[in-house]
Amino acid sequence: MENKWLNEAFKGEVPNGFQGKVGWASPSNIALVKYWGKKGKQIPQNPSISFTLSECRTETFIEYEKADRFGFSFFFEGKENPVFGAKIEKFLMDNQAFFPFINQLHLKVESRNTFPHSSGIASSASSMSAFVMCMLEIERLLVGPSTGSGTLIKASYFSRLASGSAARSVFPAMALWAKTEAYEGSSDEYAVSLADDIHPVFKTYHDSILIVSGETKSVSSRAGHALMEGNPYAKARYAKANENIKDLLTALKSGDLDTFINITESEALQLHALMMCSNPSFILMKPNTLNIINEIRGFREETKIPLCFTLDAGPNVHLLYPDSEAEKVVHFIKDNLAAYCVDNKWIADHVGDGPKKLL
Ligand code: PMV
Repeated sequence: MENKWLNEAFKGEVPNGFQGKVGWASPSNIALVKYWGKKGKQIPQNPSISFTLSECRTETFIEYEKADRFGFSFFFEGKENPVFGAKIEKFLMDNQAFFPFINQLHLKVESRNTFPHSSGIASSASSMSAFVMCMLEIERLLVGPSTGSGTLIKASYFSRLASGSAARSVFPAMALWAKTEAYEGSSDEYAVSLADDIHPVFKTYHDSILIVSGETKSVSSRAGHALMEGNPYAKARYAKANENIKDLLTALKSGDLDTFINITESEALQLHALMMCSNPSFILMKPNTLNIINEIRGFREETKIPLCFTLDAGPNVHLLYPDSEAEKVVHFIKDNLAAYCVDNKWIADHVGDGPKKLL
């Protein structure tokens, strides 16, 4: 794929007067089987599967204009943000071979998240995929629509280079990233859509994100992935993740919610267990994370309602359940769980359709 896209890159002269503005919104995603540990150039140590979200998204606009040399500025939520800007600029510089036309453009990027920055929700998946969608659109304006530039696979490939989990954000409903024998067409270099291989119940899933802490992460995902290199359980973890992928794919197809719940919760706890036993070790759950988990398990036992939790690399709890149970679960959140959240705060999200063009 790499060579195909290198060949396809627009290497010509950017026409005089080439200027305009593009805009894309791209959602965050929540992994069910977790990606934790990588090798080489953003290649995951094991496959992962995620739900694409809807309400937690990044909206990015790029104003582009022909220039003598590369020019770049980055504004986040209305203010120039050199820290975020530097990350995006580095991605562009590292991948100039794919985007050689940037050396003839000035780009002004404006980005904002629909969720609060302090909510502890990972924003790199949504922000990097939104940025890539915009860049591919600019490329499309230069080369014309007849090339493969518009494909989501290509967007996933470049999103992966910018931030691993972003590879999964470009597809509707659910995505699988990394090669597995259990799914034909899967690849280490980009994610693929699972939308046609899942029981309809999963397209109705809610993700209610319970904000246990709004603090920024105590371990960055880059440092977290690196810690897997010395983790004594790494080999066993990668084997287990592969097994979970296979079993989850089967459960997703048939709509087997018991297996879905079992694997999803086990994966969340494994991610945190891996961090607890790495060196240095991290405990990313807070007391209220555990309080919420206990409440969820008690409620499920009592009501038989198929809700379960997952966790990202932080203390906030993602509550997953089908739409048919939404009324009862929302009552449960308000009556029992919101009290464990910062200012009773939780975000109502659900499975979504992937990136949307804004302009
Ligand atoms: O994409 P990164 O490098 O931020 O890593 C994401 C890792 C987890 O969010 C913990 C798991 C995942 O698969 O999304």
